[in-house]
Amino acid sequence: MAFLSDTLARVKPSPTVAVTQLAAELKAQGKDVIGLGAGEPDFDTPDNIKQAAIAAIEAGKTKYTAPDGIAELKQAICAKFKRENGLDYAPAQISVSTGGKQVLYNAFMATLNPGDEVIIPAPYWVSYPDMVLLGQGTPVIIEGKPELGYKITPELLEAAITPRTKWFLFNSPSNPTGAGYSRDELKALTDVLMRHPHVWVMTDDMYEHLAYDGFEFCTPAEVEPGLYERTLTCNGVSKAYAMTGWRIGYAGGPVELIAAMRKVQSQSTTNPCSISQWAAVEALNGPQDYLAPRAEAFKRRRDLVVSRLNEIDGITCPVPEGAFYVYPSIEGLLGKTSKGGALIDSDEAFSKALLEENGVAVVFGAAFGLSPNFRISYATSDENLEKACDRIAAFCAGLA
Ligand SMILES: Cc1ncc(COP(=O)(O)O)c(C=O)c1O
Repeated sequence: MAFLSDTLARVKPSPTVAVTQLAAELKAQGKDVIGLGAGEPDFDTPDNIKQAAIAAIEAGKTKYTAPDGIAELKQAICAKFKRENGLDYAPAQISVSTGGKQVLYNAFMATLNPGDEVIIPAPYWVSYPDMVLLGQGTPVIIEGKPELGYKITPELLEAAITPRTKWFLFNSPSNPTGAGYSRDELKALTDVLMRHPHVWVMTDDMYEHLAYDGFEFCTPAEVEPGLYERTLTCNGVSKAYAMTGWRIGYAGGPVELIAAMRKVQSQSTTNPCSISQWAAVEALNGPQDYLAPRAEAFKRRRDLVVSRLNEIDGITCPVPEGAFYVYPSIEGLLGKTSKGGALIDSDEAFSKALLEENGVAVVFGAAFGLSPNFRISYATSDENLEKACDRIAAFCAGLA
């Protein structure tokens, strides 16, 4: 009898965590490494949010809570959905969890049966297919088009739908490309979904507040109210409020689904951290004025990285609408050999040689299901980004 489960054997560890760890190890050995792998803002959590957490500790709000969130936070989330997305959710339609990741995980655990298909556009956030596999489902990958900034088309979505499709998983702005769907582009996708009433929509709106050049964020149930009854609108405070370590994510959806997710949570983590929940109440109800300047800083860094990368022969990098990632293609570099003697026959080989020879940690595209590319997280200082771009340019110039 095998000790480890067959399900686990199908799942791979997170490659983004692996890159971050490798970069940290090299740094610990004294190597000069610039890490562009981590998917978190370099800004600090705003002070009013920290103070709310301190006040919660001092007031003794340090005990178990309701499994899927305190009433005050559910109210704050309902108000946020109304204010920012024009969506009406009642508290019984809200689930709060230990990060956006656990929201998605709970939803898959609560709904997937063996053989159920989940349509995932590639390139995708690394955890999506593995979470589906953990839930015994089958990921169905559709590749975004490079000429559309790696977005999918309605035709691709239509062609992927089968009678076994349970969910369509949507993420805009996207990790890893930063691509954002305009209202018209999203409407074209929701029109397809309206023709297939058995397909549910899981939308991961984690990067809602990180959008640039006047890009208008929109979410499926807002663009097509006809989908409201079969949409789970997922979001969280991690990226917008620089709260990755606090572990609070949330979703709005139909009462029956939310109750099923509550059951999963009550038998796993019991409830998200009480102190973090009070901090999240302040994040959502408190002042929002720092969001725009922070987004402006990210936009400046995006412009810097995109223009520097596009100056490099063999690299092409679309200008993304949001998030804090770029996803350049290295198509023009395949087949070359690095100064250190590495054959660049894949994006994995490129990323490994770049780290070992020129000290820049990026994540290879195969991890996100679409090659040959790599992902840069530009959530770091301008100085680091300039230095990293110099090194990438030097590495590429050395390829022969
Ligand atoms: C697209 C996307 N969704 C969800 C998450 C998870 O967020 P959290 O840290 O709140 O679990 C991430 C984190 O990287 C992400 O990139």
